[in-house]
Amino acid sequence: MKNLPRHVALIPDGNGRWATRLGLPRMAGHRAGGKVLSKAIGWFRDAGVEVLSLFCFSTENWDRPREELDGLMRLFDVLLRKNFSRFGEEQIRLRWLGRPDGLPKRIVETLRTLEEDTANFRDFQLCLAINYGGRDEIVRTVQRIVKLGTAPPNWATLTGQLDTADLPEVDLLIRTSGERRISNFLLLQSAYAEFCFFDCHWPDFSQKEVHQALKDFQGRKRRFGAISP
Ligand code: IPE
Ligand code: MG
Repeated sequence: MKNLPRHVALIPDGNGRWATRLGLPRMAGHRAGGKVLSKAIGWFRDAGVEVLSLFCFSTENWDRPREELDGLMRLFDVLLRKNFSRFGEEQIRLRWLGRPDGLPKRIVETLRTLEEDTANFRDFQLCLAINYGGRDEIVRTVQRIVKLGTAPPNWATLTGQLDTADLPEVDLLIRTSGERRISNFLLLQSAYAEFCFFDCHWPDFSQKEVHQALKDFQGRKRRFGAISP
């Protein structure tokens, strides 16, 4: 396929509503969503996308009830462990976007180990945004630059300190469940992203929607502030 997005950012929204619609507890929606997430990694990779960023848990999600937070943390732990060997087998470079504070130690350790173990893979990169917020990333980046004490940053040196350092900017942002907003995901990286929204809840997302989103993207005229020739 020609003219594909290099970097796709995905906001898998609607797990809770999917469960509620079926008369199930919200966690059942998160578990179903987790299964689809695992499959979606392969769908995007097979389509030729180089970087996939998944918004798994935001710095604002801590405002949810304790029971759901505990369930989500357990689910992240289980999913990371279940997929642990997969990253090596499929040569997926894993990158974690976010801050450690508040996350269970085990999850932070698993994420850091996976980042180290997969650092040399080049073909496909998976960014897991867990305890990530765009504003929080900007603050952490500025703090890092101040601490380095180097010359005042320009755009290149500033982006070089973001969690996404060295990655291409987001070309396509996809969100499910009918919401049409960015919700503090990859704010700076999405400056020129194309947006694609689906009404289905995340657990109902399939390979069909992946192809629809990519086809939609291929039809967009990106001008980056310039005018068409
Ligand atoms: C997305 O589904 C998953 C996470 C944010 C962890 P939601 O939990 O936001 O589901 P809705 O939006 O309440 O339906
Ligand atoms: Mg939601």
